[in-house]
Amino acid sequence: MFAVVLFFLAISMAAVPLKAADSVNLIKKTDVTDVISKANVGIKKTDVTDVISKANARIQTPLIYGDIAPSKSRNADPCTATGCKWPKSESYVYVPVQISPLYTQEERNVILRGLLSFHTSTCIRFVWKNVTHQDFVYFYSGTGCWSSLGRQGGLQVVSLMKNGCLYHSTVQHEVSHALGFHHEQVRSDRDSYVQVLPENIIPGNEKNFDKVQTNNLGTPYDFNSVMHYNKYGFSKNGQPTLLSKANPSLDFGRATSMSANDIARINKLYGC
Ligand SMILES: *[C@@H]1O[C@H](CO)[C@@H](O)[C@H](O)[C@H]1NC(C)=O
Repeated sequence: MFAVVLFFLAISMAAVPLKAADSVNLIKKTDVTDVISKANVGIKKTDVTDVISKANARIQTPLIYGDIAPSKSRNADPCTATGCKWPKSESYVYVPVQISPLYTQEERNVILRGLLSFHTSTCIRFVWKNVTHQDFVYFYSGTGCWSSLGRQGGLQVVSLMKNGCLYHSTVQHEVSHALGFHHEQVRSDRDSYVQVLPENIIPGNEKNFDKVQTNNLGTPYDFNSVMHYNKYGFSKNGQPTLLSKANPSLDFGRATSMSANDIARINKLYGC
């Protein structure tokens, strides 16, 4: 499988900048409603939790926290203070990327639209990987939707499975992991905002709810974060696994794009 990835990597090495032409093409090809309504045939709910848990249901790759791949060289603790941030050069943080040639134009455009959404709101700039780049992100259709947490060094993959993960919110969610961000419901101060109901969690998935000593960058807990799972994430019985402490009937984790706080956090972490 890795050999296959590397093979397609080799044939897609062209050093083409992610340029305005891509955005122009993107605007023409990816009318949001069109893309999403086509992509959603057969899937009723499209919030991040639902998409990720469905897509990851039969997954073989070991994942922690639901959709974070274990790191090659460090554990999944917040690493942004110790080197897993992407480097900034002058005003921008350049993140080299490649996209698997096995995606259709339409699928590729969903990914590009997701990447370009960071350009319009943050100082992150995705550029096509060329020979001068060591560290880069390779987007491909693996088993499910997942990413490593932060920059790993060298090739790192973000899996966005065809027929399961190609939604704007899912692209933003997995890319945010690659930039170093955890799920909202595991952040250090979550106990003030959410209650975890272990009795409703699918056995073996309890670790997805473990709290992490995150750096919250002075931003408030955000139920509308694209990084927040919904209240039924990993439920074994249709009962909630998470409840809002302030309002147990609150429905949350239904973001269809990054919230203002998601954007503010990226800008703070990366000094944009
Ligand atoms: C590689 O891409 C960078 C932009 O990230 C660019 O500045 C550089 O000129 C490119 N190098 C080659 C050899 O294409």
